[in-house]
Amino acid sequence: AMGAPADPSPVLKRLRLPSGRPLATVPRLVNRGGAGRFVGTLSAAPVTLNLAEGGVKTTAWAYNGQLPGPAIVAREGDSVEIVFTNRLNQPTTIHWHGMPVPADQDGNPHDPVKPGESRTYRFTLPKGSAGSYWYHPHPHGHTAEQVFRGLAGVFVVEADDDPLRHLAEDWLVLSDLRLDERGAIPANTAADWHDGREGQFLLVNGALRPVIALGQGERRRWRVWNATSARILKLALPGLEWQQVGSDGGLLGAPRALDTLMLAPGERAELVVSGSLPAGKSVALQSLPYTRGRAMTPEQTAAFTVATVKFGPPVAGAAVPAQLRQIPALGEPQVRRTLTFSENMADPASMFRINGQTFDMNRIDFTGRVGDIEEWDIVSEAHMDHPFHLHGTQFQVVARNDGSGWVAEPFLAWRDVINVPLREAVRIRFRQDLPGMRMYHCHILEHEDQGMMGQHRVS
Ligand code: C2O
Ligand code: CU
Repeated sequence: AMGAPADPSPVLKRLRLPSGRPLATVPRLVNRGGAGRFVGTLSAAPVTLNLAEGGVKTTAWAYNGQLPGPAIVAREGDSVEIVFTNRLNQPTTIHWHGMPVPADQDGNPHDPVKPGESRTYRFTLPKGSAGSYWYHPHPHGHTAEQVFRGLAGVFVVEADDDPLRHLAEDWLVLSDLRLDERGAIPANTAADWHDGREGQFLLVNGALRPVIALGQGERRRWRVWNATSARILKLALPGLEWQQVGSDGGLLGAPRALDTLMLAPGERAELVVSGSLPAGKSVALQSLPYTRGRAMTPEQTAAFTVATVKFGPPVAGAAVPAQLRQIPALGEPQVRRTLTFSENMADPASMFRINGQTFDMNRIDFTGRVGDIEEWDIVSEAHMDHPFHLHGTQFQVVARNDGSGWVAEPFLAWRDVINVPLREAVRIRFRQDLPGMRMYHCHILEHEDQGMMGQHRVS
């Protein structure tokens, strides 16, 4: 039977979240700018919400009081100005995950906004940057907590020449929620700090198991965000045809048939879902078991329903072009490096490491040059999968090695997160077009907070 991820405590079983409501549209942040200029206001603050049934109140931390935060929708070429105020009782930042923003606007741990203070983030969205991004806090040591308490929102950059703009869209922002028996969001346990936190509830746009409408014969574009701290998602939609048409940094060169969709924390995908069933039928969007290399309880390895797709009356299916865009391959690298994720169990204070070192804000791990092509081999040596993320640019995966040798990646895609399975390696290439200090880290946010992060200074 498919249920929510089971929860080990009988007390918690009494805590219920409403489910089965129509998929909520993610509210948009109001643009006070106008054409070519996005100007918006965000604040991070505690908010009390009725998430669970029976009058139970939950205090979350949210952008503009909303779970997930308001969606920012802008266009290639737009200038963006976000006036941000921190109403939390701890420092925070806004990091524009995956976006090619100047280093001093990136919201990395070097630029915390103190409680009660404001700052304005300013950047311009370059041509070719259309894609599905997100924004979340990034203060050193508190990123995981701020995200699992609710601070995350999506940022969609649109293009004038989008070959799929004729398709209707559904956005699925997936986040993890854990509640204690009083309905509060509890702090991390020691196991969470090691393994990465997963909750009892996987929410879609802030709600449990919503119903997504699809017309018989209709084709819709889904954008899916994995905004959890640590859950690696293996999604399936049995009985329906779905194709992947985009990755973190926008459209693929061509649609790809999809069986299951793996989505690491921080990663996004664009899909085209085709409604092949008659009105009244429904199918489950499922989360399948995936053992990310660490001990998991039987409950954690059970499949569950993320959402239900319900069929309505026929809608004429729009065509999906065979070619979506040209993705030029990044050429031969000027620089090659190897980065190894490891854990030093003997030193609990600095257990999570890259190349044997824990994060030090005052240490530059690598220096590089603007415009150079870098090739990095990223290896996961200890205890579980570690999803790799790089700031400031998008990369291409060129090969993978599952332990039996390097295999070339069969297609080109722009990405900013790639899962590195335990005892495997991934080879990426990228170019930084803007100077400055760029972070790279594991996107299991507990690992990032505990030092599985480094700095690449590009000049
Ligand atoms: Cu999504 Cu450095 O983060
Ligand atoms: Cu990790």
